[in-house]
Amino acid sequence: MAVLLHIDSSSLGSASVSRQVAQSFLAEWQGEVVHRDLAAQPVPHLTAAGITARTTPAENRTADEADAAAIQDELINEILAADAYLFTVPLYNYSMPSVFKAWLDQVLVPGRTLGFGPEGAATAGRPAVLISARGGGYGPGTPNHGKDFAVPALEVILGDPKILGMDVRVITPELTYAPTMPALAELIPLHEASMEASHREAQAQAQALTASLAA
Ligand SMILES: Cc1cc2nc3c(=O)[nH]c(=O)nc-3n(C[C@H](O)[C@H](O)[C@H](O)COP(=O)(O)O)c2cc1C
Repeated sequence: MAVLLHIDSSSLGSASVSRQVAQSFLAEWQGEVVHRDLAAQPVPHLTAAGITARTTPAENRTADEADAAAIQDELINEILAADAYLFTVPLYNYSMPSVFKAWLDQVLVPGRTLGFGPEGAATAGRPAVLISARGGGYGPGTPNHGKDFAVPALEVILGDPKILGMDVRVITPELTYAPTMPALAELIPLHEASMEASHREAQAQAQALTASLAA
């Protein structure tokens, strides 16, 4: 059975739109799920010891380096053991939630996960679904177009062959502020259409990935 690593990062538990759309994916996914909730249990920020541990042989590490390496090993092994990935990463301040960035800083390690060596990334070609809800609208022609710095950065980090090389699909439920912000009230129909399309897309992606990984 294929293993899905599901990583959440919205601070809003079940009220998170990204998490709700992920539930539509999970309702159709057939396989094992390993879940990590970075908001409920944040990983530590990368420390100096965490960086120097990467270039220090295990037998020469300080206690701090050994502790830092153990954190990275646990998170990296979780990634390497999965066949597919589901990330929920909402737009926070035009970027990604800091808990997700902290996780990336722990797991993007030369020789372990990064693909710029001769063998490429261990995760190359593995499917990843990224769900990123945002309060505003960022489509072409909108005033915010080009100001989303979360999805483009994640498309590079997750998808570039020299980094994680995953086969990334992106779902962006938009205008989540429309129902509660009077200034955006006229955009409620667009928000509702975006929600419906996002849930449908999440279901379709889960069905397609379940079928392709079982084949
Ligand atoms: C700390 C914080 C920063 C935010 N920054 C932005 C932003 O820069 N642009 C935007 O469109 N929405 C922003 N929002 C709104 C969220 O993107 C929106 O509420 C979205 O639905 C959050 O995803 P979630 O529902 O999965 O938690 C922000 C929300 C929070 C809590």
